[in-house]
Amino acid sequence: MKSIILFFCLLLLFSCENKKADPQPIENLQSFCVSFDSVSYSQNVEPIINSNCNSCHQPGTGSPFTNTYSNLKLIVDRGQLLGVITSDPSYPMMPISKSLDVCEIKIIKQWVLEGAKNN
Ligand code: HEC
Repeated sequence: MKSIILFFCLLLLFSCENKKADPQPIENLQSFCVSFDSVSYSQNVEPIINSNCNSCHQPGTGSPFTNTYSNLKLIVDRGQLLGVITSDPSYPMMPISKSLDVCEIKIIKQWVLEGAKNN
């Protein structure tokens, strides 16, 4: 019995070790995240959406488009954008195969909080 407990403890330890192998050092990530006074659509949000959403959300797919400000704003106004990126159980998780990183989620949240402006 003791060896089973030990086994699980070791397993837990190793799974934590793996998480530390994140390619982005946490200090850089934090300073990058908090370095914005205000978030810009074209500078900060659009690049994230371009590289994580637009490959799937294209005309002809039946899902909402994310490729322009006005298309993205429709999703924001319906509450869907924050829903899909924040693991809200009422929405499917986006992007489908992986989650955005903490910093990207934070940037998009702040942009929505500031009124999702076309800036
Ligand atoms: C691998 C392809 C793929 C990627 C990448 C992807 N989506 Fe989707 N998305 C889909 C599909 C397919 C659906 C419709 C399926 C569903 O509703 O479960 C969908 C549905 C949605 C919806 C509608 C949700 C609802 O409530 O019905 C929104 C909003 C959305 N995606 C936003 C995004 C955003 C924002 C990103 C980038 C962060 C993204 N998607 C990345 C394929 C993708």
